[in-house]
Amino acid sequence: MQIADKKVIPDEITVRIEKLSNLGLGIAKVDGYVIFVENTCPDDIVKIKLTKKNKNFAKAYPIEFIEESPHRIKPFCPMHKVCGSCQLGHIDYNYQLQIKKEIVEDAMRSIYGYEIKVNDVIPSPKVTEYRRKIQYPISQTKDSKRILAGYYKTASHELVNIKHCPIQPHYCDEIIEFIRQTAFELGVSGYVEKTHKGLLRHVLIRSSAYNNENLVVLVVNSDKIQECTKALARKIYTECKNISGVCVNYNNQKTNFILGKKTEVVEGKGFIEEKLCGKIFKIGAETFFQVNPESAENIFNYVKEYIKNNFKKPEILDAYAGIAAFGICLSDAAGKITSVEEVEASVKLAKEIIEENKIDNIEVFTGDTAEFCGKAIKNGIKYDISVIDPPRKGCSEESLENILKLTKQTIIYVSCNPATLARDLKYLRGKGCEIDFVQPFDMFPQTYHIENVAIISVP
Ligand SMILES: C[S@@+](CC[C@H](N)C(=O)[O-])C[C@H]1O[C@@H](n2cnc3c(N)ncnc32)[C@H](O)[C@@H]1O
Repeated sequence: MQIADKKVIPDEITVRIEKLSNLGLGIAKVDGYVIFVENTCPDDIVKIKLTKKNKNFAKAYPIEFIEESPHRIKPFCPMHKVCGSCQLGHIDYNYQLQIKKEIVEDAMRSIYGYEIKVNDVIPSPKVTEYRRKIQYPISQTKDSKRILAGYYKTASHELVNIKHCPIQPHYCDEIIEFIRQTAFELGVSGYVEKTHKGLLRHVLIRSSAYNNENLVVLVVNSDKIQECTKALARKIYTECKNISGVCVNYNNQKTNFILGKKTEVVEGKGFIEEKLCGKIFKIGAETFFQVNPESAENIFNYVKEYIKNNFKKPEILDAYAGIAAFGICLSDAAGKITSVEEVEASVKLAKEIIEENKIDNIEVFTGDTAEFCGKAIKNGIKYDISVIDPPRKGCSEESLENILKLTKQTIIYVSCNPATLARDLKYLRGKGCEIDFVQPFDMFPQTYHIENVAIISVP
């Protein structure tokens, strides 16, 4: 491989890993040429084999570790090398936190482009068994048609049949194993992506940290329920422990989306209960809810403390609200809260939760944030604080502009994507805002993901 100044990089070469990329890949440089190396750790000295080579960078995999980084640990998951879910599982937890802080700082430096204070990452209360939203793709073996359930290998749709996943509650392994065996016995076939044939395509579990109850969702390649699916749901509900209910979701499209448009409750209840900040929440099959409730509670409490320390019963806009988790957790510290969310089912659930928790200072609206805020501006409405928590793609400029116009003092921006957060902070800075600081939280131990709260003063 020849690089710019006519130097040639051989296909096999020994490098030192300098840092990790935002996707958890090791970064090595040879005469300034960047090589991304999978399954490595900063300070590994490693012999690598180059695979994809581009003009500006190459990808590689390790073939021999010459000197292992002092931050390496033995991965606690036996499937670590084959499953693509825990990119940092071979790195000690304190160092993972340091890496994540650097990922946020790098995004701010390269995209936001100005000096910004990034605090140390607040760790997750749990580093294993924390993930309470499980989504296993399902398939079947070619000859014996036994059911496979697990995660995909990195950057592929090759299924790894996972019997034990240490970042999920251990009893979810038992539920999945029961489904593997029982689906096979009842003749429920596993979905084969290539041919778009087979019935069961995904199993989802929403698992409660509050009472350990589980909601199971069977996603089927069909538009109506089959007798064998009904029988499977019945057996899961009656024979597995701690099942609050079983739903069936219909998805017969050739798509990467997990859920189709229609979900039916076929056994028990269509939700689990979770307790956060002293309030009881209901989480349904399609409801957005943070996957790590213990870490999410840290974020809600952090934002609440910030508000209590700096405001007296403010009026708050809670945008991109989901089931109004922020609104509900902040209700004790607020005068009035207005929540807006575009998914009707989440708004319906939010209203029920608000009523059941006897909260009387929150109003929830269905709608698009930009449009809702546009109307509020026309009606002369203003909020002291806006808490915004958009999806990974961040906010549209229209949305940011409108939120800015109706916020009197502070925007609290909660984000699961440092790159889109940095982009949106740059936009807000261009409109005269000051970015006070960014506080990262580790919501996803063992992975490269990181959640951030940015505090923004409005001019
Ligand atoms: C990251 S989640 C945050 C949910 C909630 N704040 C929480 O902590 O549970 C983002 C939410 O924004 C909603 N959403 C996405 N785009 C939206 C838009 N343009 N207007 C309103 N809500 C939107 C999604 O349906 C989702 O519930």
